[in-house]
Amino acid sequence: MPATTSPKPAPQTFRVKSFGCQMNVYDGERMTEMLSAQGLTQAGEGVDADLVVLNTCHIREKAAEKVYSDIGRLRRDDGSRPMIAVAGCVAQAEGPEITRRTKSVDIVVGPQAYHRLPELIAKAAAGEVALDTDMPAISKFDALPARGRSARVSAFLTAQEGCDKFCTYCVVPYTRGAEVSRPWGQIMDEARALVDAGAREITLLGQNVNAWASEDEAGRRQGLDGLVRALDRLPGLARIRYTTSHPNDMTDGLIAAHGDVEKLMPFLHLPVQSGSDRILKAMNRSHDSASYLRLLERVRAVRPDIALSGDFIVGFPGETDADFEATLNLIRAVGYAQAYSFKYSARPGTPAAEMDSAVTPAVMDERLQRVQAQINVGQLAFNQASVGRVTDILLERDGRHAGQLVGKSPWLQSVHVEEAGAAIGDMLRVELLSAGPNSLAGAATVAAAA
Ligand code: 5AD
Ligand code: SF4
Repeated sequence: MPATTSPKPAPQTFRVKSFGCQMNVYDGERMTEMLSAQGLTQAGEGVDADLVVLNTCHIREKAAEKVYSDIGRLRRDDGSRPMIAVAGCVAQAEGPEITRRTKSVDIVVGPQAYHRLPELIAKAAAGEVALDTDMPAISKFDALPARGRSARVSAFLTAQEGCDKFCTYCVVPYTRGAEVSRPWGQIMDEARALVDAGAREITLLGQNVNAWASEDEAGRRQGLDGLVRALDRLPGLARIRYTTSHPNDMTDGLIAAHGDVEKLMPFLHLPVQSGSDRILKAMNRSHDSASYLRLLERVRAVRPDIALSGDFIVGFPGETDADFEATLNLIRAVGYAQAYSFKYSARPGTPAAEMDSAVTPAVMDERLQRVQAQINVGQLAFNQASVGRVTDILLERDGRHAGQLVGKSPWLQSVHVEEAGAAIGDMLRVELLSAGPNSLAGAATVAAAA
């Protein structure tokens, strides 16, 4: 007998709230397009929706717990609530447990099954709890409607999903499944649709996007560098980025592309997680700090101005003061333009969750503060070193002050400008005039570059 709730009227309006990584943002956009194609209307800001989709993240404990407080907050003043769908990685990892833990959820749908949302909504409207955490052989991408008529100036495009690396702390191989590359033709079609809809920059997404591989239209085996080179030839597209990458999948071809593909931006997010070889081994990262540094040297040799970004975990089980110092040293040695840092969070079902020698919360807090301070020093230095540069920025949004626009430099820095006549979507040639830790200010040098 399927679990039941009370029958509900079919929803007319909806809202999708995405948490976590950029791939969730992408999935949220695809869900929005699909629900709109079904005739549902997106609820405006501050307006109650009949259906709320919480597109969740499971990567750390805090992110996962957030779902339950969000569900509670969806209760309205009159005691009623919208139809609630939990999507994303919490749905995948905790599917049946969610419906046991709360009676307020109508739909649970995993990240590989969200193309089935319309059927699940119908089921929920009939009063059945609708759960789908399959990883179907038929890709959701074949089932989703074509990309919509409007795109952001800087658009995401999922090229690859899942991960075979099994870092010992990480849930991704379990929630997103094994590495799968979307076919060449499908990605190129979507890229064309995004450009036609107004995108000037495309960021190729994947948990290990640099492991992407497929055959091109002539049947030749291609890696991510081949895809980047094909996108380089796409008229109307100005910039290409990709994220996230694993050090072991940085091929010679991809490094070479950084040297000679003009549209490929000089930015590389290449997580290393720790500077301690002992900890890297315990994390099953299959690279050490020296091989990581050598890799960066090879990228810098072809693209000296490349901006580097990374991810760091502090407080992995058994991390000593010396291990942590090695992480600080690595951050100093690399000189990251930006980086993310996290306290280790034990995730159920992962090998690291079974490891002894947990680091105490107080030590974790202190290490996180110190690592963030070190990252901030590097980030400010990188931004300050950019002052005086003349570069193109892609205008992406309005700034906080009237007349102000915010664009991105090739190195992914936010740059504020005031330039009458310039508009979102324009590429503007600016001189970078001043720098703070999180953004820069610039002034247009000549008329808009494009
Ligand atoms: N605890 C803390 N941080 C984690 N990450 C992944 N799993 C965990 C975990 N269990 C971080 C890694 C990864 C980023 C996306 O999230 O740094 O690169
Ligand atoms: Fe997780 Fe490691 Fe795969 Fe990244 S490479 S998604 S950290 S298992």
